[in-house]
Amino acid sequence: MANAAAPTPKANMGAPVPRVDARLKVTGQARYPSDTPVGNPAFAVLVTSTIATGRIERLDLDGARAVPGVLDILTYENTGELKGVKFGQGSSTSIEDLGPEIQQAGQIIAVVVADTFEAATDAASRVKPTYSEQTPSATFGSPGVTQEDATKVSPQHKHLPQAGDAEAAFAGAPVVIDLEYETPPQHHNPMELFTTTCAWTADHLTVYEPSQFVYGLKNGVAQRLGIDPDKVRVVSSYAGGAFGSKGTMTPRTAMIALAAKRLNRPVKLVATRAQGFTIATYRAETRHHIRLGAARDGKLVGYSHEGFEVSSRPDPYVVAGVEDSAQLYAFGAVATKVNVVHADRNTPGYMRSPPVVPYIYALESAMDEMAQKLGMDPIAFRRVNDTMNSPIGNRPYSSRSLMTCYDQAAAAFGWKDRNPQPGAMRDGDWLVGYGCATAVYPTHTGPAAARVRLKPNGEARVQIAAHEIGNGAYTVIGQMAAERLGIDLASVTVEIGDSRLPPAPVAGGSNTTASSCSAVKKTCNLIRARLFHAAVTANDGPLAGRSADDLMLQDGKVVANDGAGESFADIFRRMGVAVVEDYAEFVPDGLKPQAIADLYAGKVDMVGGSHGDKVMYAMGAELVEVRVHVLTREIRVPRIVGAFAAGRLMNTRTVHSQLMGGMIWGISSALHEATEIDPRYARYVNDNLADYMIPVNADVDQVQVILVSEVDHDVNPAGVKGLGELANVGTAAAITNAVHHATGIRVRKLPIRLEKLLQA
Ligand code: MOS
Repeated sequence: MANAAAPTPKANMGAPVPRVDARLKVTGQARYPSDTPVGNPAFAVLVTSTIATGRIERLDLDGARAVPGVLDILTYENTGELKGVKFGQGSSTSIEDLGPEIQQAGQIIAVVVADTFEAATDAASRVKPTYSEQTPSATFGSPGVTQEDATKVSPQHKHLPQAGDAEAAFAGAPVVIDLEYETPPQHHNPMELFTTTCAWTADHLTVYEPSQFVYGLKNGVAQRLGIDPDKVRVVSSYAGGAFGSKGTMTPRTAMIALAAKRLNRPVKLVATRAQGFTIATYRAETRHHIRLGAARDGKLVGYSHEGFEVSSRPDPYVVAGVEDSAQLYAFGAVATKVNVVHADRNTPGYMRSPPVVPYIYALESAMDEMAQKLGMDPIAFRRVNDTMNSPIGNRPYSSRSLMTCYDQAAAAFGWKDRNPQPGAMRDGDWLVGYGCATAVYPTHTGPAAARVRLKPNGEARVQIAAHEIGNGAYTVIGQMAAERLGIDLASVTVEIGDSRLPPAPVAGGSNTTASSCSAVKKTCNLIRARLFHAAVTANDGPLAGRSADDLMLQDGKVVANDGAGESFADIFRRMGVAVVEDYAEFVPDGLKPQAIADLYAGKVDMVGGSHGDKVMYAMGAELVEVRVHVLTREIRVPRIVGAFAAGRLMNTRTVHSQLMGGMIWGISSALHEATEIDPRYARYVNDNLADYMIPVNADVDQVQVILVSEVDHDVNPAGVKGLGELANVGTAAAITNAVHHATGIRVRKLPIRLEKLLQA
């Protein structure tokens, strides 16, 4: 049964059961939101602005209206009833009007609705805006960008990590490095496009939209429409890729809801691939200024990290990954700062491992440069600076297995064969390089509620509005219920992705398994307690008079250690019930009980990571081999080995898949991905999957995942550290470091393309 994709579980790991929805997905039966049939739909097509800043002076709709089948055209002139929901209050952006002010290229300026998709597409091409245009500021260095200190404008980042006196540490350190790094903009490009279908029944709205947070979307749309949230239902049984892009409400949803209301008919929108680049969010470009100071023995004494991140004109979106990077090693003194750089762009947003991907890339590149300057092996350098306490407040890690990960990865990789001298390893015409970097992701846990029903025949139903975004949510939630109820996974039906179910947090920050499984565990424990109570208090039952502490659930029965047992059916009969059903609300330690009411209202607060008395992180070590052709400079990654520790692993198959996919995305970050911006127009040039480079099978060779056992009772009742966003962190640095080892060339601006290696 066990194979590379379904590793044999070690301690504190769950069985690699196949995904319960695998067959549905591969046979096309899984119903994604835009697949849901609605009666007699009309079709919407978006018109987006071709300028980035200015104003619509005139909108000529005559040609569009003349197309047969056109039913309605929404513009700024007839959508005044839509209320504003600003960035930070439930919307991904404050740029939500259809005009007349234009604040970004690709802003939605009209929604054309017609009987057919073809008519709507034709008519949309005939909407003729006349603009008064201003010169936009596109990115770093463009005239007109403005800069702000994130602590002054971003409510989540009022305080950034500081410890001791970093300047004094650098002044006294025998070895200091002072370097700058840069990362490009990236777009999520989930396979599934940004779709919305809205249908009204009287004054009740149903929204079918791929979502990472159905409760957030439900409450946000209700606010924009000015209606009671209880009159809105959001359904998202599956999302075909999200990576953060479907976590927060975007402007399109309320527009489609309004169009459907005006027509009194369901309306479907499937935005184009190119429109996805501007009507949703993206990972913004970043710059980093890093200083590290060390003693000759490699002990770090100081770390300073100043980040610069592009955001839109109105919104202060920043990821501020220094929150996490500052916890990672025994740095001694720490100084951090983050700057928001406002340009005329759409507002960026969460994209897989938002804070750590750019900031850990920069730090782990700098760590390699420092190791080289010290003449130390890069793994040995990290070992010298490994710590069980964060340098920020000297708080303990709840658990930390970083060096175990390095040891296991290094053994599997054959790191000992590395010649430390850059450019010294060669195989024919190929320069060979070995590089390493740390992967790290904050462990988040949020509030969640679940309802569980158990039937006398041992079948169960679990209801929780968690989200299946490729993470295996249906499967691991079912596994937790099966385990606690003593039944087979096949006997559990899991219902998720619907705002009529009890709420779960946004499927962001890799909290889904931790939060949902904790809520399901708590709910199942209530059912267990009821069954145990009934079993031990019955006068005529086989378990009468026993202590409930000695009982467990197994194979559809309540059983005792000595083998005595009673079937669910017999207990239910005595209880006089047809089913046993419970509902429980789980609030993690550190949050107020109010957190559940907030979650029902679409607001979510999480604990973990760098906050609290203990710091909580999942970690890993990634080791890569690169080959750079000595003449053409072609860059290959023949193998990558990652070892990861993340508390309890619910399912080694889904975990393996997440971690392998993460490292492949890391290869993409290192060598392929970048959204190109035309600085004259602040427009994205490669807004399609032909020109937006991602790795294909030929770019990925051996990817080995090693699962490291780790037990952590502090993180949450499930003992789970999220890892969906772990393995794509650090990879870009590991590859950068390996390219340097192969060639002696240090690339400090991603992606690494072969032209950057032509200099030597
Ligand atoms: Mo993840 S970017 O937190 O969905």
